Formats: sequence, C-alpha cells, structure tokens
Amino acid sequence: MTAPILSARGLVQTFANRKAGEWRRHLVHAVDGVDIEVREGETLAIVGESGSGKSSLARLLLSLSKPVRGTISYRGQALDGLTKAEHRAYRAEVQAVFQNPAASLNPRMRVESILTHVIRRHRLAEGNGVRELIAGELHAVGLTPAGEFMQRFPHQLSGGQQQRVAIARAMIRKPRLIIADEPLSSLDISIQTQILDLMRELKRKTKVGFLLISHDLNAVRSIADRVVVMYRGRIVEAGKDVLTRPLHPYTRALLDARLIPDPKLARSRRRIILESDAASTSPPSGGCRFRDRCPFAIAVCETQDPELKRVCADESLVACHRVERRMGFELAQPVRPEALSRDRGVRIGSH
Ligand SMILES: Nc1ncnc2c1ncn2[C@@H]1O[C@H](COP(=O)(O)OP(=O)(O)OP(=O)(O)O)[C@@H](O)[C@H]1O
Ligand code: SF4
Ligand SMILES: [Mg+2]
Repeated sequence: MTAPILSARGLVQTFANRKAGEWRRHLVHAVDGVDIEVREGETLAIVGESGSGKSSLARLLLSLSKPVRGTISYRGQALDGLTKAEHRAYRAEVQAVFQNPAASLNPRMRVESILTHVIRRHRLAEGNGVRELIAGELHAVGLTPAGEFMQRFPHQLSGGQQQRVAIARAMIRKPRLIIADEPLSSLDISIQTQILDLMRELKRKTKVGFLLISHDLNAVRSIADRVVVMYRGRIVEAGKDVLTRPLHPYTRALLDARLIPDPKLARSRRRIILESDAASTSPPSGGCRFRDRCPFAIAVCETQDPELKRVCADESLVACHRVERRMGFELAQPVRPEALSRDRGVRIGSH
C-alpha cells in the first residue's frame, strides 16, 4: 500500500446558518469527525448527496478553510507544524481544480498570461523556458496547437477547453495530488468523458493522484481506485468495491437512485429510494444519522452512533450496526415498516 500524501484525523467544520423564515442561527456540522487518507498516485472519489460535506472537506484539505477541530497532515506532518519549505512543497504538490472553470480563470488575461503568472510567481522557469513550459503543459492537456491557445482569452474557449486550461495551471507545479471538486458537472456529457480520459492519461504519464468529488457515480466508477461515501458530514462507507458491492444502506440508496447497466445490481430485488435530500432535513440527534431514512434501523441505531470500522478481510470500512462480515444488504430484510413511509424520505421499491 502506498503512503498517504494527505491524511486527516477527527476533522470538524461547522457553519452558523439561518433557515429561511427563522431569525435564529443554528450550527451546521458540515464535516463532523472525518478521518481520511489520500494515498500517493491513487484516484480517490468522494460521493454523497448535496450538502453531505464533500466541498467543505475538500476546502479543509486544501487549507482554504481552517477546521474547528482535528488535524490534517501532509506526508505524515501536521500542517500546523510544517516548516516554510515543507509548506511550499504542500502548496505545490496539492493542487485544486473547481467546478466552474470560467469563474476560476481571469477573464481579462490570455491563457499565456494566466500560466505565466503561476510560473513567475513560483519561479518555475525563466526567459524562453517560460513559453516552452506553457507550450508543454498545453500540449499535455490536449490544447494544440499550443501557440494558438496561448493567445486566447477564456471566453474564446469552450467549457471543456477552459477546464483543460485549469488542469494545465494545476499541473504546471508538478503536483502529486489534484483535488477536483465537481470538475465535470458544468460540462456536456461527451466533454465529461474527454476530461475523464485526460485525467487518466495524466495519471498514467505523471503518476499524479486525484481526489475527485462527483455526483456522477458512473464517472466515479470508471476512474476511482477507492470510493468514500459521505452522509451528513460523516464518512459512512469507504473502500474499493463500494460501488459494486455496497454494504451501507445509504450507499445502496445512492446506487439505486441512478440507472446503471450493471447486471449484478439489476438482479437485486430490493431497492432503497431516497426521496428528499440530506440538506433539506435536520439530522436526528443521537444514534445513527441515517436512521430517520433507513429501513433497516433497529433499537441500537436510535442511541448509538455507529463507528466506521473494517468489516471484511479487504479494506472496506462501513459505519452501520447491521452490517455483518461479508454480508451485504441484498440479504437483509427491512424491520421497520414505518420507515418505508414517503415522508421519512425513503421507500423500498422493486425492479
Ligand atoms: N460557507 C458556508 N457558509 C455556511 N454554510 C455552509 C458553507 N459551506 C457549506 N455550508 C453548509 O455545510 C453543509 C455542507 O455543504 P457542502 O457544500 O460541503 O456540501 P457538498 O457535499 O459539497 O454539497 P454539493 O454536492 O451541493 O456541492 C451544507 O449544509 C451547507 O449549507
Ligand atoms: S446503523 Fe442502523 S440506521 Fe444506521 S444505516 Fe445501519 S441499520 Fe440503518
Ligand atoms: Mg460541493
């Protein structure tokens, strides 16, 4: 197993939010006790409904915001304790790509100036070397002829080309990890496939790893080495087979929410269907945070928050009281008929 480039322990991030029509603020635990490791060269995907805390976690790992509690380590060293040189290395090795490339590129600068700015700021090249470096990076992300793309302004590029420039800007510092928050969601389907192909190619050629946040489970399935599932600020499942052998009821529900040409899942008789998103409901206090939507909840789920623990011989981690060794929920039966009610946001259906 490769060493982690980034790891976090006990991360907590909160926001004081106000609901529409209410004057009082309430505390949202966007990230609520997350332990995570991102290993060198791997593609780790984070999935979960809107509001589950994926972007908040990404911002913490990028040091774009400070956690309320917990530590983040870069190559085994806590970020707070890094020397200046180590901190520079962290900033270079861990890069970001965001959802909306148009917003992340300065509209008044040509592509050449956008990339020159990064090169000069970090003294990556001088003289003719600057143009050579830019040409090489544009070529690497498929923007050829590079000389022509250098002269364009962001608005003269398609969405896919803008995202390629954003990726080139991240790649110019020779990162070991790119944290990409929904990099595909603003693009057409055919362009999404091209960007995924580009990510695969960059990984093959440069061994860069990705932490990919995406709503698109098919995209995640096609590229991720490991998958982490977040629900209301917590990791509820993690592992290599999460999308082919889901063990947590929430992961099952996420998979059941979209159609995939997967004969194994198509054979599954029971489907869990989520009917409201996590962000629209307040989490139950105490116990498992999925219990208000879970058809498998039993008494212990009301009182004890399940720990994320290893359940199989492989690396799968699941936070559920009812997961048993090597047993998926394909076999489990719902025990609470009332949990099937529509207003609890979940029902069981059949194919
Ligand atoms: N800057 C902020 N100020 C206030 N609340 C925030 C802020 N950022 C996130 N939140 C809240 O934290 C929770 C998690 O949000 P986050 O954006 O991390 O979720 P997400 O999983 O990335 O969702 P999406 O898939 O919609 O991008 C939500 O309830 C959100 O409203
Ligand atoms: S711990 Fe209980 S409520 Fe939570 S997911 Fe497992 S069965 Fe459902
Ligand atoms: Mg987000």
